[in-house]
Amino acid sequence: MNQTIILLPSITFFFLMLSNSSLSLDTIPVNQNFLDGETIVSPNAKFELGFFSPGSSKYRYLGIWYKNTIPHTVAWVANRETPLTDSSGMVNLDSQGIMSLFNSGGAIIWSSNSSTSGINVNPVAQLLDTGNLVIKNESKTNKNILIWQSFDYPGDTYLPGMKLGKNFVTGREMYMTSWRSVDDPSPGEYTIRYSMVKGNYQQVYIRKSSVTETRFGPYNGITFAGQPSYKATPVYIFDAHMIANENEMYFKLTFMSNSLMLRLILTPGGKYEIWHLDMHNQEWTQDFSYPSDNCDSYGLCGPYGICNAISFSNCGCFKGFERNYKQELTPYNNWSSGCRRTKSLDCSPKEGFLKLSSMKLPDTQNAVFHTNVSLQGCEMACKSNCSCTAFANPNMTAGGVGCLLWFGDLIDMRVYQLNGQDLYVRLAASELLANSSTVVNDGNRGVHSRFSRERRVVITISLSTSAGLFVILATCTWIKRTSRADVEQEAVKVLEKDHKCSRRKGSIELPVFSLSTISRATNKFSIDNKLGEGGFGPVYKGVLEGQEIAVKRLSKASKQGLDEFKNEVICIAKLQHRNLVKLLGYCIQGEETMLVYEYMPNKSLDWFIFDDLRKSLLNWPQRFNIIHGIARGLLYLHQDSRHRVVHRDLKAGNILLDHDMNPKISDFGLARMFEGHESEANTKKVVGTLGYISPEYAANGLFSVKSDIFSYGVLVLEIVSGKKNRGFVHEDDDDINLLGHAWRLYKEGKSLDLIDTSLGDSWSTYEVLRSIHIGLLCVQPRVEDRPSTAGVVSMLAGEGSLPSPKKPAFFFKGSEIDSVSIYPSSINGVTLSEIDAR
Ligand SMILES: *[C@@H]1O[C@H](CO)[C@@H](O)[C@H](O)[C@H]1NC(C)=O
Ligand SMILES: *[C@@H]1O[C@H](CO)[C@@H](O)[C@H](O)[C@H]1NC(C)=O
Repeated sequence: MNQTIILLPSITFFFLMLSNSSLSLDTIPVNQNFLDGETIVSPNAKFELGFFSPGSSKYRYLGIWYKNTIPHTVAWVANRETPLTDSSGMVNLDSQGIMSLFNSGGAIIWSSNSSTSGINVNPVAQLLDTGNLVIKNESKTNKNILIWQSFDYPGDTYLPGMKLGKNFVTGREMYMTSWRSVDDPSPGEYTIRYSMVKGNYQQVYIRKSSVTETRFGPYNGITFAGQPSYKATPVYIFDAHMIANENEMYFKLTFMSNSLMLRLILTPGGKYEIWHLDMHNQEWTQDFSYPSDNCDSYGLCGPYGICNAISFSNCGCFKGFERNYKQELTPYNNWSSGCRRTKSLDCSPKEGFLKLSSMKLPDTQNAVFHTNVSLQGCEMACKSNCSCTAFANPNMTAGGVGCLLWFGDLIDMRVYQLNGQDLYVRLAASELLANSSTVVNDGNRGVHSRFSRERRVVITISLSTSAGLFVILATCTWIKRTSRADVEQEAVKVLEKDHKCSRRKGSIELPVFSLSTISRATNKFSIDNKLGEGGFGPVYKGVLEGQEIAVKRLSKASKQGLDEFKNEVICIAKLQHRNLVKLLGYCIQGEETMLVYEYMPNKSLDWFIFDDLRKSLLNWPQRFNIIHGIARGLLYLHQDSRHRVVHRDLKAGNILLDHDMNPKISDFGLARMFEGHESEANTKKVVGTLGYISPEYAANGLFSVKSDIFSYGVLVLEIVSGKKNRGFVHEDDDDINLLGHAWRLYKEGKSLDLIDTSLGDSWSTYEVLRSIHIGLLCVQPRVEDRPSTAGVVSMLAGEGSLPSPKKPAFFFKGSEIDSVSIYPSSINGVTLSEIDAR
């Protein structure tokens, strides 16, 4: 109550002060009360101090905000955790230099409580143009001694000039905490903390409660890796300082511009954002938001896993490592167990280092830093300590040196397109090529060469076999053409000899690999590397130039395989689309014929949807995405690529899935390319897979894009129902297949009964019904009743009404076999059932 007594004269004084002296505008003198409704403005009117209510909140807070910006932008709050419930708050600065906030009952609800406040001071509180509220001593003897400043108590906003870090003397740590919500400035779940452990190398964590969500860093002499390079941005003119000494360790930005102001905030949702204010029009612009992609999630790819946001699949292992993945029922996109070494380390003197470029360096928690040690010195230091797993020079300033040595697992690595750093990872001698074991000569090997060189096209492909289907995906590798000219010429000669594709001679641009390269990549075709046995020979997993690959090795006896091999290499190699699996290269040497694809660990669609346990791993949004993706891949084949391509063997086993369960159409061994206006062809050799084959093709050997559409329709119904068309069992009616079943349910208005029960309730009725409807339209007996590929894509995307389907073709079990048998020439040599051994 004492406080209210002195209230009136002080208000009078305050207003006198406002009108008399513009210089005093930014100060609160001792013992002058400051009330809700009044404000203090910084000298150049950049910031304002006063009481406010955030958003829709009724509570009142004492805070600092940017003057005249829309929206009202708060930079700092005093009483974050102790709001005022009405507008009778009052601030008073006492003669000891302590500023206190009183509520209507006269209780102190917040105080600047400073240890340096003391006797014989003549304190004054002042709001600066930086947004810092300072209390200082203005006595003549102790000139401008700082008693307290708001910059030492950051909230959700970093303003240039603040320090973030730790004072080892007082033990105080300065870090940012998010607001609980836009209406509530009390500390929320997220923090941004600089890892300020003495001896540790500096990096920054964004945490949700105690869980690390994201990491910046380590500090590279300019900024923290992952933050934009401020210096490269013309609008930003400021310096970043990292101070580390016995007493304190902190990071600080200083920013000098009259036309711009900068603000870094941690939002209630855990996003770290950088905004600038244009002082001419008082408008805010966001420059940066973090995390910016999946790869910013801390440790997403597990120990030794590497995240690469440039390709669609995020996680991978680098050379000398393989995915550490055992339990089949762990979701495939869960990489928490990361990668493991293919050859363990034994500390032999021949061990060396693999250089990975364009990297975000791993977490430095278990790293040791040495200043002034050159890269060569760093390599020696790492090599001479058997538990050292990697090293790097974190310093990116020109000529800057420094040596970081990692001990233990490498966590939270990713590839950047810009401003990444070099990391050298210890590998067993056998994993290193003879010429790549030294750091200095190791050119562009490794991740950088794989991910960020445009000339190394990123491609994927897979293959399926009847014995066991698997999926192959990886990013592209390349070969040095000059050194292998002979091998290559030989290969091209074999290929171009009587192939069926009308492509010009000399136009095959696919890389040729030598037998020795592939043999080395697959560990001499070791049985451990064997992924399975396909119709035309075994398939091996390998690692080439640090990249996982799959090698389809044609058995020498397979004449059929050779035709398809040529077909795939010559006709299809140039097709590139995110929903097509791609070929990396091939090898023809002596008796050996091989196709090299990228390795795809998620296998094929049939491996999921037709398996009682695994089908639950593919939820409806994923399945719907797969239905879409296959249609887009087909559209590319049918319409958008330079030549019209009919796949001829579309089936669940030929749909491969990448790390994110995006579908990739694979196996182009049977595909046919049309020239010019041709749109339909006839073959005497009906090849394809029972259950997916269209009536006109089965009966007359006629194929066109519409025969692929038929197969697509079957596929859609299989994806929705989780049941095979061929081999479908119905309790009541033994004769109908999946198409017949779907048609009956549709007629009875019970289409939703078709849905795979393992999907639970996670599906959208609209999407499911629409998919079934489109599936039925695609399996119409008459070609002209089936939608075009573009039609399918737009039906999937759109909302308009669809034509009514008629009764589908091949309603009854086995009816296509009868149909095929009508056509005599298909019963020779290559029959349908031979192709489809399952
Ligand atoms: C001021 O700080 C001291 C310790 O530094 C603490 O014990 C005291 O409770 C604080 N007072 C207020 C009002 O926060
Ligand atoms: C290897 O380095 C670690 C971390 O600096 C250290 O604790 C260990 O003693 C070193 N081992 C050898 C053999 O030098």
